[in-house]
Amino acid sequence: MNIILLAPPAAGKGTQASLLTKKYGFKHISTGELLRKSLEANDAVSLEIKETMQAGKLVSDAIILQLIEKEFLVAEQGIILDGFPRNKTQALKYAELLTSLGQEIDYVFYLAVPKEVAMERIFGRRTCPSCGKIYNSRALENKEKCMDCNTALVKREDDTEETFDLRYETYIKETSPLIAFYQEQGLLYEIDASLSTEEVFASIEKVLSKESE
Ligand code: AP5
Repeated sequence: MNIILLAPPAAGKGTQASLLTKKYGFKHISTGELLRKSLEANDAVSLEIKETMQAGKLVSDAIILQLIEKEFLVAEQGIILDGFPRNKTQALKYAELLTSLGQEIDYVFYLAVPKEVAMERIFGRRTCPSCGKIYNSRALENKEKCMDCNTALVKREDDTEETFDLRYETYIKETSPLIAFYQEQGLLYEIDASLSTEEVFASIEKVLSKESE
C-alpha cells in the first residue's frame, strides 16, 4: 500500500501519518524529518539544507530523491509519504521508482485547510526531538515533556511567522499543482483537515475501508 499525504505546511500530515502508522503498521517517511536528522552531520551540505529550510524553499530534488530511494530499499510494508512529492519533478521520479519496483500509488489524501488555520496550528506545535511525536501546546497543559519518552519538547526552528509565509508561498507555487495532477489520475481524495484530529483520521479511514470492501 502506497499512500501520499499532500497538504500545506502544518495541515496535519505528520499527525495523521503517525496515527495511520500506529493503527496499520505502515512505514512513515517524512522528508522534513529526514532532512532535520541530516542536519546533525553539520557539514557543508547540511548547512546548505538548513539555509534552504529556513528560507522556506524546497531542498534540491537530487538530495530528496536520494533520501527517498534509500528509505524504499529498507521498506517492506505499506508506506505513507509525508511531505513528498512536493513538485512535478519529484512526482514523476516517484512514479518511475514505483514502476521499477512493480508498485503503484494507492491513495493521495489532500488535507485541505485554510492558511489561517494552518498558521494558528504551527505556532502551537511542539515536537519531541527524540521520538518525533507531535504535540500542540494547547493540549499540553504546561507539561512540556514527551508523554512517550519524557524528553523535553522543542519548537521547530522554521515555525516562525516569516518562515511560515515563505513555506506557504512555496507550497502554492510548487506543490499545489500536484492536486490537479493526481486528480486527473483518479488518485486524489480531498479531506477536510480543518476538523479535529480525530475527525480527520475518521475521514481518511472511511476512504480506506470503503475502497477495500
Ligand atoms: P516539513 O517538515 O514537511 O514541513 P511542512 O510541510 O511545512 O509540514 P509540517 O511538518 O510543518 O506540518 P504537518 O502538515 O506535518 O503538520 P503537523 O502534523 O506537524 O518540511 C520542512 C522543510 O523541509 C520544507 O519547508 C522544505 O524546506 C524541506 N522539505 C521537506 N520535504 C521536502 C521535499 N520533498 N522537497 C524539498 N524540500 C523538502 O501539525 C501541525 C500542528 O497542528 C501540530 O501542533 C499538531 O498537533 C496540530 N494539529 C494537527 N492536526 C490538527 C487538527 N486536526 N486539529 C488541531 N490541531 C492539529
